[in-house]
Amino acid sequence: MKLFFFATLFAILLSTVSYGEGDKLKHGEHGNSSGVEALSDDLRDLLSQEMQALESGMISIIPAYNSGNWNEIESTAEKMNKSYIMKKNLTESQVKELHAVLPRAFIEKDQNFHYLAGMLEHAAKSRKAELINFYFSKMNESCVSCHAAFATHRFPALLLKEQKEEHAH
Ligand code: HEC
Repeated sequence: MKLFFFATLFAILLSTVSYGEGDKLKHGEHGNSSGVEALSDDLRDLLSQEMQALESGMISIIPAYNSGNWNEIESTAEKMNKSYIMKKNLTESQVKELHAVLPRAFIEKDQNFHYLAGMLEHAAKSRKAELINFYFSKMNESCVSCHAAFATHRFPALLLKEQKEEHAH
């Protein structure tokens, strides 16, 4: 199990390396949601469905956690992990579109989120309450971090102060 964990971690690190500096948004790229807004309607619907499923998953974890229902957390985390838009049965041209339209930093944030969901699943399987809490809060952070970078058209309260000033011009 440990080996599997490190192998996964290694794969994640490797993919980060190959993506290079993708996560460091260049100045002016902050809050640029044009990538998402440029998606075709069918892909955007899929993304929206994925998001709503993530939200209900996150909400359901709270009572499960508080009552020690580790099995439920495990299966919810597994579902969240698998709801990866990139892993859906997309046509070849949809896959191309995703890669062409979505910025690298978005894809990295998505991958990071699914990595955390995998870790939550693992923590729930091991019945480690503290670790479950840790990964749950990391996941919450990851929702906000991606929304602040790519979904401020949907969640304007997440605009950074500087961006609000830019918008006021
Ligand atoms: C990799 C980026 C990313 C991550 C991670 C992410 N989101 Fe989102 N989310 C988005 C984007 C982009 C939108 C706006 C989609 C649009 O405008 O079509 C969005 C929209 C949403 C919406 C509104 C959906 C709708 O159309 O009604 C909800 C709810 C949501 N996210 C919940 C979450 C939750 C909960 C998490 C974490 C568990 C999360 N998201 C993680 C990128 C992300």
